[in-house]
This record gives sequence, structure tokens and C-alpha cells, in this order.
Amino acid sequence: MEPILKVDQLKKIYSLKGKKEFIAVDDVSFSVNRGEIFGLLGPNGAGKTSTIKCICGLLKYEGGEILVKGHSMKKERSKGLRHISAVLEGNRNIYWRMTVRENLEFFTGINGLSPAKTRGRLEGLLEQFQLVEQRDTVVNNLSRGMKQKVAIAISLITDKDIILLDEPTLGLDVGMSQELRYLLKTIAKEEGKTILLSTHDMKVVEETCNRLIIINKGKRIVHDTVENVIKLTNQENYLLKLKDSLERNLYEQIKAKSKNIKSSNDRRGIYELSLFHPNDLYHVMEILKSNNVELVSIDRINNRLEDIFIDLVKEVKDDEISV
Ligand SMILES: Nc1ncnc2c1ncn2[C@@H]1O[C@H](COP(=O)(O)OP(=O)(O)O)[C@@H](O)[C@H]1O
Ligand SMILES: [Mg+2]
Repeated sequence: MEPILKVDQLKKIYSLKGKKEFIAVDDVSFSVNRGEIFGLLGPNGAGKTSTIKCICGLLKYEGGEILVKGHSMKKERSKGLRHISAVLEGNRNIYWRMTVRENLEFFTGINGLSPAKTRGRLEGLLEQFQLVEQRDTVVNNLSRGMKQKVAIAISLITDKDIILLDEPTLGLDVGMSQELRYLLKTIAKEEGKTILLSTHDMKVVEETCNRLIIINKGKRIVHDTVENVIKLTNQENYLLKLKDSLERNLYEQIKAKSKNIKSSNDRRGIYELSLFHPNDLYHVMEILKSNNVELVSIDRINNRLEDIFIDLVKEVKDDEISV
């Protein structure tokens, strides 16, 4: 099956003062299939917003190609745009002085749809997004999370196939972030929408995305399924609980046998241990046993995308230092 969105060796170069150039997106490639939620992950300054702006036609790109349902965003921008709506950072797609309903109606209007025809969809979205009570509230008076919901509802009212969301959960409280993640999953599943979302929040990706790309400083580090990224990194993490804190020399001995050992800041005798290989656990146990260290418990910690992400981004930084 042809991907609905294809980004092929995208290069975005900003011209700075004095004719200097800055490469914000450097040969990034990925493809998104119909109906999936795809995560564009990276730390601040990675190039996520630039990538999204190129895809939705807000920025020109200097290299590579973006195909939306086969249409080049360079040569057939308006054809491509028929299939895309985007919510950028800062909710710039909503009018803060209009009410929720007026905003939704306005955006159907400028997309050439008659309010009468989209009334059903509008009501449905208000229900789905739990905005029925706020329908006649001026957007400016809503909370940040509510505003974000309005912005996403607007991106859906025109019923395009692909929704681009730049940092959709940024700055939201836990409850609202959870509600939004649930909404995104429902939209993809029940309405068959394709969602590309950028974020630096691993929880969002872990919970909602099928596949992801990780970029850092404009370059792609990983492009895979969320499941594989977690599996492939093959980290062996354990939570080690001891009766007492480790003596310095034992700590150093264990450190020498492991990838990393971190002590818990606030609780004595608790350590997070990362090993290179499961068999290294024998060596660690041996050290503990031969020194009569009293063990309380040892548990395997499931790999967390968050740690993997931090590791991956760090590796790239380390590489750069060694160059
Ligand atoms: N208009 C611009 N002019 C020059 N540099 C820019 C511009 N917009 C973004 N950048 C730079 O490009 C890099 C990527 O930015 P951005 O795409 O916003 O990253 P992200 O969304 O991942 O935080 C950053 O180093 C940023 O400073
Ligand atoms: Mg950004």
C-alpha cells in the first residue's frame, strides 16, 4: 500500500543574516500509512516544527520531496493541501475573540463548505470533544487545554484525511493530556484519520503512536515501530533494593560490571541498574554475595521509551564530541 504521506530526504535550510545558512532539517525521510498515528519525536530545536511546516505548505524546502497522496508539495501544493489540516504550536488557527461554535463555522466557511451541510459534524465534534457546554463561550475565556481541544476540533471539521499536530499536549495538565491522547486514538480508529504528531513527550508516543521517527539536530536517528524501538535497544534494567547503602568500593565494582548504576536520591539502598547483558546479573550478584550485602529484592524494570530516547539523543551528542 502506498503511504498517504511520504517525506523523502527533506532538507530545510534557513538563511540567516550575513548570508549564513542553517540546516534545520537534514535529509529526513519517513512515510506515514493511512489510518496510523505517527510520532515525530525529538528534543527542542530538533527540527520538528520546521518539518511540519514544510509538510503543510507553510515553508518552502530546499531539498528532497514531500508527497501527499502522491502530490508533490513543491509542484502541486494546492492539490496536496486538500488532504491536510494542521494545528501548529500556540493555537494560531483559532480566533480567540470568537466563540467555539463561531470558530468551527468560520473554518467550514473558508473551506467552501456550507454550515448547513456540516452542522451534524459540528454537533458531533462538540460532543466528542466535550465542548457542548462551552459552545457559546469566547475562546479567549477557555483554559489552555480547552483551547487546544477547540484547535483540534477545527482541524477535523473540514474532514481532511491527514491531521498534523505540532506538540498537541504541550503545557497541558495530566488529566487534559490524557483526554487528548484518548481523543487522538479515537479519531484515528473510528474516523480513519491519519495523524502525524510532533512531541518531545515519550508518554504521548508510547501510548498513541504505531510508528515513530526520532530526529535530533535535523537528522534522523530512528525510524521504526514503537514496539521495535523498545525491543531493539535491548536494555537490561533492574531495580535493586538492598538493606543498606553500598560501600563506595562495592559500588565501583558493580559499576565496572554494568552499563550504569544510579542510586535513588531519597531512599537508602535503592539502585537502578542497567546491564549490557542479562548474564552480567550473575557478576553483580556475586559481588553482593561475596561481600555479605543483604539483598531485599531485585526486579526487572520494563524498558521505557523515555530512557531509550534520552540514551539515543545522548549517543548522538557523544559522537559529536568525539569527532
Ligand atoms: N525562521 C527561522 N530562522 C532561522 N532558524 C530557525 C527558524 N525557525 C527555526 N529555526 C531553527 O531551526 C532549528 C529547528 O527548529 P524547530 O523546527 O522549531 O525545532 P523543534 O520544533 O523540534 O523544536 C532550531 O535550531 C531553530 O532555532
Ligand atoms: Mg517545535
